[in-house]
Amino acid sequence: MRSFNIAFTLGEYHVEQFPFLRYLPSWFPLANFKRELPRWRADASRLRDVPWDAAMEAMSRGNATPSMASTLIGDPSDTVEEDVIIAKGASASAYAAGADTTFATFTMFVAAMVLLPKAQRLAQAELDAVIGPDRLPTVSDKSSLPYISALITEVFRWQPVVPTGVIHLAMEEDEYRGYRIPRGTVVIPNPWAYSRDPAVYPDPEEFRPERYLRDGKVELGDRGPAAFVFRYGRRVCPGRYFAEELLFTTIASVLHCFNISPPRNEWGEPAKFELKFLDTSPMLPEPFECGIRPRSMIAKELLRALCSESELRAL
Ligand code: HEM
Repeated sequence: MRSFNIAFTLGEYHVEQFPFLRYLPSWFPLANFKRELPRWRADASRLRDVPWDAAMEAMSRGNATPSMASTLIGDPSDTVEEDVIIAKGASASAYAAGADTTFATFTMFVAAMVLLPKAQRLAQAELDAVIGPDRLPTVSDKSSLPYISALITEVFRWQPVVPTGVIHLAMEEDEYRGYRIPRGTVVIPNPWAYSRDPAVYPDPEEFRPERYLRDGKVELGDRGPAAFVFRYGRRVCPGRYFAEELLFTTIASVLHCFNISPPRNEWGEPAKFELKFLDTSPMLPEPFECGIRPRSMIAKELLRALCSESELRAL
């Protein structure tokens, strides 16, 4: 991912402005991208091969957990080489594009809960009333949990984890509100600006799930942040529905079982917490301390009952 980020940074290499530099030999001072290419290629191959080989090995041992790889391949002895290449590439793209982005969004959720205990309390009250103590929420509960849905929507908007950076090239000449966009123009979207538009999101810096609720129901209208968080057009994120459902189940389950609290100072009082960001893509908060504790004995027992033996041993 580090290699990918370097390669993806606009203007990092002179060859972007002066394409003829690609013909220079790799020892030439301005051809540093040529010297770095073999390392990037090796990283990309490792990203593709190592998890795949581990999944195939686990499948042959008979102890594989369900995964995209195992679903795509089915029976490994009955698979042609071409299918393996496609399945491998698809799984690696999903991992590369989906793991860090989903994790980063989850981390933003934790930060929001540390900063805004009221939103956490309201979400937990809804979970207690709708789900009760004996089970975890699932995606099929989504329509009965409007506050949780609104909270997750607000996590996506409040800190979009890919605020800029996925650069596109106009394939054809175009026009937008009187501006001519010549063919070959580099186009950089600015989702951060959309997320901060006060005409659409009043007091945009505030974390406020209520902005999507009307008479106890989620009403997004044209304010749904998915329209810019996952981008649009031909290269729109193909994992967006999966990401939304994964984060719904994870966030609802975490809120159902745990209290997330601000860090404490040496006297046990809540300490000041300031959200700062690392210079990463996807954007991550700087590491921060917080408390994550089971909400009750019942929640603890529910977790114990649902975890496998190996998961319990890892705790
Ligand atoms: C919160 C989680 C996620 C966010 C914020 C996110 C965001 C994005 C963004 C901004 C793009 C670039 C679109 C563009 O080029 O204009 C993208 C592309 C992509 N995403 Fe996601 N994504 C997330 C989760 C996932 C997941 C879970 C998967 C797969 C399981 C996934 C797979 C992909 C792939 C394969 C692409 C490249 C599509 C292409 O270039 O045609 N993403 N995503």
